[in-house]
Amino acid sequence: MTEPLIRVENFTAAYDGEVVINDISFEVFPGEVFVILGGSGCGKSTMLKHMIGLYKPATGRILIEGDDLASAEGDLRLKVLRKIGVMYQSGALFGSMTLMQNVRLAMEEFTTLPDEAMTLLARMKLKLVGLAGFENHFPAEISGGMQKRAAIARAMALDPRILFLDEPSAGLDPVTSADLDQMIKRLAKTLGVTFVVVTHELPSIYAIADRVIMLDKRVKKIVATGKPAELRDHSDNPWVRQFFNREASA
Ligand SMILES: Nc1ncnc2c1ncn2[C@@H]1O[C@H](COP(=O)(O)OP(=O)(O)OP(=O)(O)O)[C@@H](O)[C@H]1O
Ligand SMILES: [Mg+2]
Repeated sequence: MTEPLIRVENFTAAYDGEVVINDISFEVFPGEVFVILGGSGCGKSTMLKHMIGLYKPATGRILIEGDDLASAEGDLRLKVLRKIGVMYQSGALFGSMTLMQNVRLAMEEFTTLPDEAMTLLARMKLKLVGLAGFENHFPAEISGGMQKRAAIARAMALDPRILFLDEPSAGLDPVTSADLDQMIKRLAKTLGVTFVVVTHELPSIYAIADRVIMLDKRVKKIVATGKPAELRDHSDNPWVRQFFNREASA
């Protein structure tokens, strides 16, 4: 049996004592596209922000290859952070920088690579997301879908093992969103990157997810875990079945 890459154990999240997620556990395995879904305000972004070490759990632990980011310090923290790349929900690129400069930023901060190497690597990342030739464009000069792809290239700057994407297709039209889904699948397959993706868009879920967990605001728990098609057809929870069976555009 494969070892999990991420282990979430009895995790509770709270803001100022107000519990948002209550005592949940799950695992993410290497190479999978793992989707966190649920209605607005159920704690998807909260879960993700804890997984990347932005906040500390109220109780429980989150282990990335056995290391607990919440308690890791110094070199260990850096080691764990180097394994992850993030695209935030509001994950705008820096508007005053070209795409090349945006992607190079983390390399400049975390590596001592020579200048030409960074440029070469950044060029490769942009090529991977289909943005070859746009290196010297500014974010405002490209479409919304291209901006999302550039943000993913930036998240990949340091060759992370895990990419966290918070609502990558938010604000995109269905066709652009479907293109982005295909790109995520391709990156997962070709690079073996593990993805943890937050979304509530049903078409995206079916397109990309190997496995999902569904959070529910009312109970503050995971109400379903599994493959989307299995949950659609076999979940014990009528509400979950309903979610997976609703019209794609609903
Ligand atoms: N920094 C914060 N301080 C206090 N409360 C917060 C903070 N961030 C989120 N919350 C609250 O926690 C709950 C979960 O928020 P979260 O952003 O995780 O939801 P979400 O599932 O990502 O929603 P959406 O689909 O709208 O992005 C909400 O009630 C929100 O108001
Ligand atoms: Mg959110």
